[in-house]
Amino acid sequence: MRILFLNGPNLNLLGQREPSVYGSTTLKQIETVVRQWASRWQVEVVFRQSNHEGQLIDWLHEAPGAFEGIVLNAGAYTHTSIAIRDAIAAIALPVIEIHLSNIHAREAFRHVSLIAPVCRGVITGFGLGSYLLGLEAMVGMLDPQRLQWPGPNASTASASD
Ligand code: DQA
Repeated sequence: MRILFLNGPNLNLLGQREPSVYGSTTLKQIETVVRQWASRWQVEVVFRQSNHEGQLIDWLHEAPGAFEGIVLNAGAYTHTSIAIRDAIAAIALPVIEIHLSNIHAREAFRHVSLIAPVCRGVITGFGLGSYLLGLEAMVGMLDPQRLQWPGPNASTASASD
């Protein structure tokens, strides 16, 4: 299984960029931890980052066939890019939106995600954990047995439980 992690603008500056919001971990360090975590499940991860909307769109277009899912931190394009939203909608691959910070606890303009409606789900506010949870959510969605996730019946607890 191959999962693509796509990172948008300014995420190349993690570690030095607004550490009170984003922490002091660099994108390279995040990548290393995600890669180690993924290897426990025999999952291969590829990390990419671009500050350019068109580059991110090209990578989304090229992903089917090469990857089984995409975990996307689109950075500020989350709140502005109809073009990235359309690219996600155009490809037949599951995409999970992630953010390091809790976008709902920040400025009002960050509360709206244009891409969330075309993503399978959103994970926001857990720092490096958002990447690990995004990975786990993707693997669990694609192949629940690999994570030993319980089947759908396991969650239908009765009132007497
Ligand atoms: C971010 C949140 C966005 O609002 C912001 O523009 C970013 C980073 C996050 O990971 O918390 O660049 O996507």
